[in-house]
Amino acid sequence: MRRKLLLGNWKMNKLSSEAKEFAVQSKPLVALAQKNNIDLGVAPTYLSLATVKENADKGMIVAAQNVHFKESGAYTGEVSIPMLKEFGIDWVLIGHSERRGYDNETNEKCNLKIKALIENGMVPVYCCGESLSTFEAGQTKEFVEQQIRVGLADLTKEQVKDLVVAYEPIWSIGTGKNASVEIAQDICGFVRSILRDMFGEVAEKIRILYGGSVKPENIKAYLSCPDVDGALVGGASLKIDSYEGLLKNIL
Ligand code: PGA
Repeated sequence: MRRKLLLGNWKMNKLSSEAKEFAVQSKPLVALAQKNNIDLGVAPTYLSLATVKENADKGMIVAAQNVHFKESGAYTGEVSIPMLKEFGIDWVLIGHSERRGYDNETNEKCNLKIKALIENGMVPVYCCGESLSTFEAGQTKEFVEQQIRVGLADLTKEQVKDLVVAYEPIWSIGTGKNASVEIAQDICGFVRSILRDMFGEVAEKIRILYGGSVKPENIKAYLSCPDVDGALVGGASLKIDSYEGLLKNIL
């Protein structure tokens, strides 16, 4: 049985003071989630990682939204894996479509980051998903398959057992235009079949999240799909009431 995972992606939102307030308010939710076999987490900006880590329940997963694959060096504006580890951060989102779109995050670069994270005992949440034009051209599966095969190249079965994959169709992110439950299951199931082809049985252990306009009102339907193990949620994870609603609707 795969444990459910609810992960908030705060993107470039929340001052540190706001992140701290959320962290404190989220404490009882982590206990509730754990009692129901659900993992709960948030991905704040770099500047709020430490305060969220300090002020949230210890069971709260605190993820960075990006990382560099090199340990240190002349990479202005970047943050390395040892820097995250120093703050006890061991989860990182990789390849979010906004980073792919605005920051030239390629499948190859994602692969370097994922390998570096796994070598450091950390958990990558590898994001994939197609644009509206790819979706309309009926090429979603070829596109996502390429993202998975290149992003996860050169990894062993043993290395991918804790990996998380998030399927987020770009046309449904922040648009309120949801992918149907059928599409979510179809593509998440397809992702699992590629993982099975690449890594064998361990694919049954890998958690696959759905993301894109997930809200308290629709989260339950997505999580009832056999291959959807959780959700990566942007907008609806920002306010504590809505975050609580997401959790309570999947208990
Ligand atoms: P959204 O964002 O829930 O606001 O659509 C999801 C994401 O980008 O991870």
